Amino acid sequence: MAQTICIAGAGDLGQYLLEELSSDERYNVAVLTRQKDKAIPNLKATFHPTDYSEESVLSILDATGATALISTIRCPDEKYISLHQGFLNACLRSTTCKRFIPSEWAGNVELYPGIPRAYGNTRAPFRKILEQTPEIQWTSFNHGWFMDYFVKQNQTYMTHHAGEFPINHNSWEYCVRGTGDEPQSWTCGRDVGRAVAELLAAPEWEQVTYIAGEWGTYNEAVKLMESFHGRQYSRTYRPESEIRESLEKYKNDSESWELAIAEGEEWQISGATCCPEEKTLRQRHKYFSSLHFLSIQELLKKAEATGHV
Ligand SMILES: NC(=O)c1ccc[n+]([C@@H]2O[C@H](COP(=O)([O-])OP(=O)(O)OC[C@H]3O[C@@H](n4cnc5c(N)ncnc54)[C@H](OP(=O)(O)O)[C@@H]3O)[C@@H](O)[C@H]2O)c1
Repeated sequence: MAQTICIAGAGDLGQYLLEELSSDERYNVAVLTRQKDKAIPNLKATFHPTDYSEESVLSILDATGATALISTIRCPDEKYISLHQGFLNACLRSTTCKRFIPSEWAGNVELYPGIPRAYGNTRAPFRKILEQTPEIQWTSFNHGWFMDYFVKQNQTYMTHHAGEFPINHNSWEYCVRGTGDEPQSWTCGRDVGRAVAELLAAPEWEQVTYIAGEWGTYNEAVKLMESFHGRQYSRTYRPESEIRESLEKYKNDSESWELAIAEGEEWQISGATCCPEEKTLRQRHKYFSSLHFLSIQELLKKAEATGHV
């Protein structure tokens, strides 16, 4: 019998999870969202308006008989822990839903729990709460960067936020952050959805799960992009010292765009975006051996051939 999976948040990653889980006969999908009248035709899914309060989420878990709750919420930092604590409490009180994936979707959270800094203030302390909750099976699911940023905005559901990614597709500019030789890993959003579908079928989870479509550096990836498009990117430079200056200058201005960008840059040059290869490959063998994860080259070709990834 198909399991019912609740996805909290109908945003960018939520759309990939929705499409991949709802097209898989092992699952029925229930989407929790604050958006009124949200419905996407031709998908085997139900939509449940909610304010994400514990009571509201519990009532949806109970009504759908869900076995797992997956959060894709991206909210202001100060809301993250209380919102996820409510999700966790709802799972504890639910009779059927004893599995939970909080909204992490980052890189090497074990070696770099405090980077990006926003994650150090939200996801890392929430992981400590989860560690004290043995009644619930949970995992922190991580994939490095979304590879989707290598394709154009109209070819992916993942929103390109100006300045976050070092490559600008419109101006053909590549910002070399740090040296550009720092290790990275990338996975496309659809492969994240497909991997989550496999993990949901596995009887046991580890507390941290990694996947990766490709490992490399931005200097290497940009060479690949230049060869694929037959065109050079102009270079701008953002040395580590400038990134550190911005982090210091804006550290008390938590709402500032400059701080958000500098924290992302720090994430990129620190090695924290890079899923640990040995553990990722071990888990690929254990959970995801039936999947092929797209490389950057394959994703570019797919975008060119189909118009959307
Ligand atoms: N590794 C990477 O490269 C990378 C890149 C981007 C994001 N991420 C992470 O991936 C996760 C999902 O990101 P995304 O880009 O898919 O997010 P998103 O589309 O921007 O937002 C996801 C959902 O969050 C909910 N939300 C937004 N503001 C909220 C608030 N104030 N209170 C409660 N809910 C709120 C909304 O749900 P409804 O409107 O449906 O209620 C929204 O659809 C996040 O943890 C994010 O940090 C990782």
